Parts: sequence; C-alpha cells; structure tokens
Amino acid sequence: MLNRITVVGAGNVGATAAQRLAEKQLARTVVLVDVIEGVPQGKGLDQWEAAPIEGFDTRVVGANDYGPAAGSEVVVVTAGIARKPGMSRDDLVRTNADIVQQVARQIKQHCPTAIVVVVSNPLDVMCWVTKAVTGFPRERVIGMAGVLDTARYRAFLAEALDVSVEDVQAMVLGGHGDTMVPLLAYTTVSGIPVTQLLDKAALAKIVERTRNGGAEIVSYLKTGSAYYAPSAAVTQMVEAIVLDKKRVLPCAAWLQGEYGLSGMYCGVPCKLGRRGLEQILEVKLSPEEQAALKKSAEAVKETMGAVSLADG
Ligand code: NAI
Ligand code: 2OP
Repeated sequence: MLNRITVVGAGNVGATAAQRLAEKQLARTVVLVDVIEGVPQGKGLDQWEAAPIEGFDTRVVGANDYGPAAGSEVVVVTAGIARKPGMSRDDLVRTNADIVQQVARQIKQHCPTAIVVVVSNPLDVMCWVTKAVTGFPRERVIGMAGVLDTARYRAFLAEALDVSVEDVQAMVLGGHGDTMVPLLAYTTVSGIPVTQLLDKAALAKIVERTRNGGAEIVSYLKTGSAYYAPSAAVTQMVEAIVLDKKRVLPCAAWLQGEYGLSGMYCGVPCKLGRRGLEQILEVKLSPEEQAALKKSAEAVKETMGAVSLADG
C-alpha cells in the first residue's frame, strides 16, 4: 500500500477512479483535487463515508489546492473537458493542453517523485504535455488508453463468442483515436487464435465498433463521455504499479525508436511495475499492422502540432 495517491480532476472519471482506488486500498490516502470549490471535498467525504460499509480504510480527501497532495507517489491526471456529441478527442486539444500544463506544473512542484498516469484527452498529446512540463523521465509519465480500448474490444469479442471476458486476451495499440490498431494476430480465446473462431466480416465489425467505442458512449450520454470503463482501466494500471505486478498492458509511452517511432507518445505493450514504465515490449507486427501504427502515430504528431507549450 502506498502512502498517498492523488487524482487531479474530480469529475466523472476522476471521482470514479478515486472510489475504485480507495476500495482496493492501494494507498492510505487518496486525494481528489479539482478547481471547483466544494466538489472534491464533497465527493471525497461521501466516498470516505462509504468505507465502513465497503470495508476499506483508505481515507479519501478533497481539495482545491495541492497541499494535501504533497509527496504523492502516484498522480492520476483526469482534469479537463470531456467530449460532447459531434466532437472528436482532438477538438479538446487547446483547452485541455492549457489545463494539463497548469496541472503538470503543480505536480512538478508538489509531487516531484510521482509516477504520473495521464487520462485527459487527447491522450497521447496530453502525455507529451505532462512529460515536457514536469521534465520527468518517460518511466514516470504513462498514458491510459490502450487498456480501455482493449477492454472494449475484449467485451465485444466475448459477447460475439458467448465466452467469458476473462478468456479473451488481446492488445489494442496506437494512438487513442479512430486510428487505433487492434492486433488480430495476438487476439486469442484461451490461446485459440480468434481468426479460427470468427470470420473476417464479424471481426471487422468488432474492430470498427472498438474504434468507435468512445463515440458510442458519447452518443448515448450526450453531456459527457465514458467513465466506468476508463476509471477501471486507470485503476488497473495504478494497481500494477503499486503492487509491482510487472503486468504487460497496452499503455501510451514516450517512444525513442521503438516500432520505428520517436519523439511522441503512442500505445505500445508496456511492462508496469513499482518503477512505472519498466519496459516496452517490441512484438512482431504484420506489414499492415506496422503501416496502421505509423498512420496512427502520424495522427498523434499532427495533433501535437496544435499545441504550443508555454515557457516555465
Ligand atoms: P468531467 O468534465 O466529468 O471532469 C473533468 C474535471 O476536471 C472537472 O471536474 C473539472 O472541474 C476539472 N478540472 C478542470 N480544470 C482543472 C484544473 N486546472 N485542475 C483540476 N481540475 C480541473 O470529465 P471526465 O468525464 O472526468 O473526463 C476527464 C478527461 O478524461 C477528459 O479530457 C476526457 O476526454 C478524458 N478521458 C480519457 C479517456 C482515455 O481513455 N484516455 C477515457 C475517458 C475520458
Ligand atoms: C473514451 O474513449 C472519451 O476517450 C474517451 O471513452
């Protein structure tokens, strides 16, 4: 158990993530930070009052400043605006880049040794903003998207095959956008290649639904985007870090030549442990998958071009 985990942004994803982290008792204290007065305090107190019923001892506290967050070992960044119908994740870029820069400066000052897990969109670009502003090494700035995209893909496959979600193993790589890359060759059901269980057309439909998974939820909710699966995904990453599990999960990582890409964040298979990003695993891709990954990376680079980082 860690001493302190901070979640920045007490909205849908942040508050639900704080609850999941507390229920798993991954730290003695979970701090929720938000700019809206009263909201992090109220949500934190409400969650702490659930502790006697749910049986966890993690204190959840809310704040509008980073005092209570000081010295946090892990920080989850969910601050920013979420998508509304008709908006792409990239439409959020300028607003969220400003917010994430402010947040990253605070993290650098108050939590200088933290491992930061970024959730705010557009994800790959917000990871870059966080890394640039904090100056933290790549081991300590990781993005959550692949775990969510893969969970959606696994859920849709389990549904189509009428099997347990637990038996579907898969990886979705690339940027967190419409160009994400589900790897069919590495998708199995208890080791059985999925291509032996579903025909091409059925698989293509599931891949397409996965790519549109975020938009599908937005079209139902209308006033915001998904948060139950996203908060579960970020909690799985934090758990892997806190418990030093060495889990291999698809995460956004700063690339330095891996997969022929560098100077950007993109979703790749990562080993997560107590030191954060402990290894990037380079797996063999088909020429089509390599081309799709390159295309996805180009989309991330293009969005990076829309952001200018303020000095200091
Ligand atoms: P939300 O609107 O419910 O919550 C965002 C919160 O951030 C609000 O409470 C707001 O007051 C707060 N905030 C704004 N500026 C802040 C600042 N400077 N400091 C601290 N807090 C600040 O949005 P939701 O649904 O929680 O989503 C949050 C972000 O996560 C969005 O950008 C969304 O697109 C992204 N997201 C990313 C996913 C991924 O797979 N990477 C999945 C789901 C959401
Ligand atoms: C999602 O995929 C909004 O990025 C978020 O649901």
